[in-house]
Amino acid sequence: MENAYHTPVLLKEVVDELKIVPGGIYVDCTFGGGGHSKAILQKLNADGKLVVFDQDEDAKKNLPNDDRVIFVPHNFRHLQRFLRLHSISAVDGILADLGVSSHQFNEAGRGFSTRYNADLDMRMDQRQTKTAFDVVNTCSEQQLHKLFEQYGEVTNARTLAKTIVVARQSTLLKTIDSFKNALRGIVKGNPNKYFAQVFQALRIEVNDELGALIEMLQQVPPLLKPGSRVAIITFHSLEDRLVKNFFRRGTFEEAQENPFTMIQQVNELKIITKKPIIPGEKEMKQNPRSASAKLRVAEKVMMV
Ligand SMILES: C[S@@+](CC[C@H](N)C(=O)[O-])C[C@H]1O[C@@H](n2cnc3c(N)ncnc32)[C@H](O)[C@@H]1O
Repeated sequence: MENAYHTPVLLKEVVDELKIVPGGIYVDCTFGGGGHSKAILQKLNADGKLVVFDQDEDAKKNLPNDDRVIFVPHNFRHLQRFLRLHSISAVDGILADLGVSSHQFNEAGRGFSTRYNADLDMRMDQRQTKTAFDVVNTCSEQQLHKLFEQYGEVTNARTLAKTIVVARQSTLLKTIDSFKNALRGIVKGNPNKYFAQVFQALRIEVNDELGALIEMLQQVPPLLKPGSRVAIITFHSLEDRLVKNFFRRGTFEEAQENPFTMIQQVNELKIITKKPIIPGEKEMKQNPRSASAKLRVAEKVMMV
């Protein structure tokens, strides 16, 4: 399904795995161009409901004229709060297709892409004040080192952090071009790949993508009805590891250390995808952006 705003990845797989109940209540945490939502709506009857979240105001223009849809223009880290606001305490399925949309990448002014010159921005939610400019110009050398190493897996993260800190003392790193120029001398390997990693790290930091994912996942088990499913599509190893570990344990909390307390942590989730589902060759060819996608699915166990 081609869509100028965003082409949905693993569309059939997501819809199949969610095992949609026609009269059920579903949540699409990442509405974007609405491709997944549209396919979910096609499986719902007139009693069904679909709550869609997107923190980017631009996504609003893709909303279908459909009474079954409730739009929440906020971060999915507030999942439970907004569902409660709409008097929903339990749902039949939850989807999140993480990261940015093609639209966000292709809009030069949003500052997500290394292909254009624009202000260092990278906010998905334009109401937010913190931008990539703030990260680049105010984080300490140590913070920059850590975020480029962890979020971008940049091989020379320490040199990169030092170079930024030195450059910003004499030049204002306000635009993508000024930022890239400051780093010219330290690029390792293929410049496109290098800058892609650097930009990914900044984007994750600006939007606190891992923090939002952790908070959202923690709200999933209590929200799902027994037997219903959560499906998460990730695009890099940090996110995928978080999802995999959460599905395996059902919590991010440390296990009880005390052997005398008989409290056992019960995982309310059962893993459906032992290995993540990835796009086939045909999809990867048609939509190269799908190449790094991994879909993991879990089901809320039936309590006895
Ligand atoms: C990969 S796109 C989703 C595309 C969508 N599945 C489709 O079929 O068009 C991700 C979307 O989720 C939004 N998003 C990402 N993280 C979010 C968060 N923490 N809260 C709310 N929206 C988020 C982005 O603004 C973007 O529009």
